Amino acid sequence: MSGKLRVIGGKPLVGEVEVRGAKNFVSKAMVAALLARDTSVLRNVPRIRDVDVVSSLLRLHGVEIDYDQEAGTLAITPGDIHLPDDPVEMDRLAGSSRIPILFAGPLLHALGEAFIPDLGGCHIGDRPVDFHMQVLEDFGAKRIQEDAGMHLVAPNGLTAKPVHLPYPSVGATEQTLLTAVMARGITELSGAAVEPEIKDLIAVLQKMGAIISVDTDRTIHIEGVEELRGYSHTALPDRIEAGSWACAALATGGDIFVRGADQQAMTSFLNVYRKVGGAFEVTDDGIRFWHPGGELKSIPLQTDVHPGFMTDWQQPLVVALTQATGISVIHETVYENRFGFTKALVDMGANVQTYRECLGGLQCRFGHLNYHHSAVVQGPTPLTGTDVEVPDLRGGFSHLIAALAAHGESIVSGIDIIDRGYENFMQKLYALGAEVEKID
Ligand code: EPU
Repeated sequence: MSGKLRVIGGKPLVGEVEVRGAKNFVSKAMVAALLARDTSVLRNVPRIRDVDVVSSLLRLHGVEIDYDQEAGTLAITPGDIHLPDDPVEMDRLAGSSRIPILFAGPLLHALGEAFIPDLGGCHIGDRPVDFHMQVLEDFGAKRIQEDAGMHLVAPNGLTAKPVHLPYPSVGATEQTLLTAVMARGITELSGAAVEPEIKDLIAVLQKMGAIISVDTDRTIHIEGVEELRGYSHTALPDRIEAGSWACAALATGGDIFVRGADQQAMTSFLNVYRKVGGAFEVTDDGIRFWHPGGELKSIPLQTDVHPGFMTDWQQPLVVALTQATGISVIHETVYENRFGFTKALVDMGANVQTYRECLGGLQCRFGHLNYHHSAVVQGPTPLTGTDVEVPDLRGGFSHLIAALAAHGESIVSGIDIIDRGYENFMQKLYALGAEVEKID
């Protein structure tokens, strides 16, 4: 991974940043456009690398993309799509993304076949795709394993089957939605994920002509239709990015107004923020987050699927917790391997220990396995700048926050990965008064 940043930390971040559409929605809405033949228009699209990667993947399938980066408007016209004409490029692009697996349903509907390259994405656990494959195969797809990935065929089309997810996986829920909307018959999906990004994807599919209803008990009913049309939609704001800046304000003793942050999607985050001792004020245009002075408080915290505290907020919050008084106990229940980033915090002077056991009461599905998925943070500990290597997207941003909170100089390497999910983060850092300089 490339890109190096020199950070002189120890200064509060103060000012305003804007968040645009959610990375984890925009990429899925782009795939949904493949279900129609005419143009879909997506607004509030952030300038992040994941959007470029999915645009390139779509282009390889013959889709026309017209992207006005300044306005954040993306017009997607599938027209006559085909299998990728450049498998080497397809493989290269897939190496940085997990989105290609979601192309399966729309391509099987349009072409009767799909090619799914081996997947990339952040290394925060095994990240299997067994739930995805179960849905596709139950609906009638046949898998032919090839060297660079898998070829899927469904010569007789796809037929709805009941789906029960053993865990409310975001990706597998999206896979089921994107496959079931045009399958023959009615799909009852139980054990579904109900993240706000999924609700927004359902809104997009409904605009396209899909028939989907969501019950209160994680059950979704999808009635297959023969044809869908293009949509026009404004993406919901990125609550992970908003939470990351909120944690940056807390860890550096700063004050950041996050324009575009949405309270509804961040309820559990805001509750925890308040318990830790952070202050926030919700306005019509966004949320102001700040450190009100005095001591921050340690907390017990468990990550969970929505409406729980999301795993993607865990890493930036842990940085702030190194500055809280007392012992915080964090139990990560979504990914088995999301504490690797704490090693760099320890190198900076934080007191963080990780454990295999489920700490904090509840047993999770990793409890009997050999993964360090609980952490104990004892604070407050002053942080001192050091050289760190970015491990993954959220862990990387957390290293950046730690370097900004730490006294002295840090060299943060591998920062290019942060562009995948944080729009214009360098400009935003400058706007907040951070002393940072790209050195490679
Ligand atoms: N899982 C399986 N089998 C599957 C699918 C998932 O065992 O077939 C497991 C995973 O290994 C994991 C858990 O289920 O332990 C949850 O995974 P999920 O499918 O919900 O995650 P995802 O769809 O791969 C999306 C986001 C992640 C975010 C999670 C949880 C995208 C592109 N990624 O991943 O975002 O952490 O949902 O909210 O939407 C990020 O933005 O940095 C990021 C990692």
